[in-house]
Order: sequence, then structure tokens, then C-alpha cells
Amino acid sequence: MLKGKHIVLGITGGIAAYKSAMLLRLLIKAGAEVQVVMTPAAKEFITPVTMSALSGKPVVSEFFTANTGEWHSHVDMGMWADLMIIAPATASTIAKMATGVADNMLVTTYLSAKEHVMIAPAMDLDMWAHPSTQRNILTLESDGVEVIYPGAGELASHLVGKGRMEEPENILKAVEAFFQRESLSNLRSESLKGKKVLITAGPTHEKIDPVRYIGNSSSGKMGFEIAAAFARRGAEVTLVAGPVSLPTPEGNIRRIDVESALEMHHAALKAFDDASIAVFTAAVADYRPSESFSSKIKREKDEVPVIHLVKNPDIARDCGSRKTPRQFLVGFALETDHELENAASKLERKNLDMVVLNSLRDPGAGFRTATNKITLITEDAVVSFPLKSKKEVAEDIAEAVCAAICGKPADN
Ligand code: PMT
Repeated sequence: MLKGKHIVLGITGGIAAYKSAMLLRLLIKAGAEVQVVMTPAAKEFITPVTMSALSGKPVVSEFFTANTGEWHSHVDMGMWADLMIIAPATASTIAKMATGVADNMLVTTYLSAKEHVMIAPAMDLDMWAHPSTQRNILTLESDGVEVIYPGAGELASHLVGKGRMEEPENILKAVEAFFQRESLSNLRSESLKGKKVLITAGPTHEKIDPVRYIGNSSSGKMGFEIAAAFARRGAEVTLVAGPVSLPTPEGNIRRIDVESALEMHHAALKAFDDASIAVFTAAVADYRPSESFSSKIKREKDEVPVIHLVKNPDIARDCGSRKTPRQFLVGFALETDHELENAASKLERKNLDMVVLNSLRDPGAGFRTATNKITLITEDAVVSFPLKSKKEVAEDIAEAVCAAICGKPADN
């Protein structure tokens, strides 16, 4: 399971240090190559000789070996390692990690680590529950460190968790789970490599005058999560975004900001021919004022202004009418009634391959929420999903598209 994996095992000065010998044995037995790094205090609890005999490598503890002057490079260790795990992690080491106090080899190694880092805290219960420790734990988590909570298997809340270190068998399970997740995400990151994906997101604003517009409540969140999900799969994403206040997700994403439906139509159609996949998440205004006033409309005493509307172009339908067999198009349907019927009719009318139905009748679905509840409709299947975070929904959509395009003709 861990064959060929390089792991740095950090050990700090706590009574649970004796358990790290068992953890080391389990890691070695599972096939990992392990480099042990100990803090000076750890050596009071377990000898480096034991750990070096078990790992088959000299233990690193100081910045250099006193008698030979050999320098131990924490940077090289970071390059070598696939994972760093600190078990036990004492309150003191956790505090140093959270604040960057690099006064020993272990924390220095942590600060230059490029690999995933896990810690298994171990301390007295009062120290664990202290706000200062809990703050440091939260800081480490927000820095991306994975915390194996004491007694995590049994207790829902880490605040009431015991301070005792998690058992070595469970730490091994967490390590194996990490490598499993990593290999899945490596597989996923290749699945759409080089494919060009067009995504529309957010609302459009149709100007009435310099201070007023016709718009809707779309935040752009759903579309931005979809852009991120496709980028994670190696796709080259063009994200045509209406007026939203969201940062561009990480990855290979070219963002084009637009205001109105006409601008979105222009940008989307320009990118469409090159795209293998298009996902129309935007809530595009169906109508715009027939004229937009160049100065603010003044309030007249008795007169109520009448705004004449004209139809906006339908971006999804216009792309659908130009679709070639190598392209896969996904539209959204935001419905309030006769949901399935209305959504299915969009599949045909707009010449789409898949429609993502979300209904405003479902609590937690639709505009602005962090969650959504969708049904995926294709020509021959209707699949409903439970309420999930928009990130998870985006993953489901990207997975469904990946599965569907397996049989499509390849790009030239
Ligand atoms: O942005 P969030 O706050 O996260 O909210 C997400 C969302 C609710 C906006 C999203 O999940 C969603 O449902 N988007 C589509 C909203 C919509 O306008 O649905 P529609 O049923 O009116 O349009 C059908 C499809 O045609 C959509 O793919 C739409 O992008 C597209 N369309 C519609 C009109 C138009 N002029 N051009 C289009 O491309």
C-alpha cells in the first residue's frame, strides 16, 4: 500500500513517543521508506538508536552531526518526502509550527516542507482544551496541515477530544487514506488534459441608465466551482463571468469579465468554436431595455417612466445551433414548477447534451446559497443527487461530463 512512498516521521518530546516506534514499524511494514527526525526533547523519551534500527536510517535531530560536521539539509528532506507526519505532536511543537519558531531541526523541516503534513497531537487534556492550543490547531489547519484528532474515530467534536495520541493503527489508516486520495486526484487531474472548456457564470446587468440596471441574484458561485472542477481535471478553462465579486479559482483558467448579456454572448461565441465542452451556468437576462439612458432618469412629478424591453440573444441556444459532433454542451435550468418537463424541453430546444436542473422549490438550492440540489438530464437518463456543497455539485457535473465524453470523437 505504501510501497515506494517516502515519509518523514517527526517525533517530539511527549510520553506518547514510545508509540511512534510502533507507528514506524507499521509504516515500514506497509512498504514506506521512513526518515525519522526527532526534537531534542523526544530523545528523553525514546532513543534515536531504537528508531534508527527500525527505520534502517540514521535519525536526524541536529542541524549537523557534531563529530563529522555533516550538514543535514531540511530542504533536501522536503524534496525527498511525499508526506511528513509528526506523531506525537506536543503543544509546544504545535505552537512553534503555528508561529514559525524554527529553533530545532523538526520545525525547520516543517517550514520548508512542500509535501502534505499530518500531525497527531498528544498532550494532557487541559493543555489540549486550552484556547491557545485550539487556536494554534485552527491556524495549522488553515495552513493545510491535516490534524489526526485524538480519539477522532469516536468523538464528533475535537474540543471534547481526549489529549491522548491516536493509536498507531489509526494513524496508519489516515496515512493510507491520504495516499489513496492523492492517487485518485492524480488520475482525475489527467482526465481532461488539454481539453478546452467554456463556462459562463454569474448574472448579467442590463443597463437602464448609469445608476440602474435589470439583474438577478446569481452570485457566480456555481459557475466558478464548475470552472475549478474542470481545471482540476487538467482542462484549459475560459470563464466568461458576469458582474460578480469572486476571485478567479486556481488553475488554468482564463477569465473574461463582462456586464451585459450582449457582452457575454460576444465573448462566449468567440471562445466556443475552440471548446470541446461548454457549460452554461450563467443566469442571463432574457431581456434588456431597448435603450439605455446616458444620464440618470429624473423622478418626474406625475409621470411614471415606461421601460421598453427587447429580447437578448440566447447564448446556449446559439452555441447549440453551431455544435459539431466533437463538442459536448451542458445547459442549466432554473425552474420553479413543472421542473423535469421544462428542463427536458431545453435539452432539445437548445440542442444540448445535458441539462442540469435546479429548482427554487428545493431549500438550499439555486441562487447565492453555498449548496445546490441538482438532477442531470440527458437524452437517455435522469439522475438526481442529494443536497451538496456547490463544490461537490461541480465535481458531480464534471465527473458526469467526463464519463459522457469518453465515447466522443477526439479533438483534432
Ligand atoms: O450563481 P449562483 O448564485 O451560484 O447560482 C447558480 C444558478 C442558480 C444561477 C445556476 O445554478 C443556474 O441555475 N443557472 C442557470 C440560470 C438560468 O438562467 O436558467 P434558465 O432556465 O433561464 O436558462 C437555461 C439555460 O440557458 C441556462 O444554461 C442559461 O445559462 C442559458 N441561457 C439563458 C438565457 C440566455 N439569454 N442565454 C443563455 O445562455
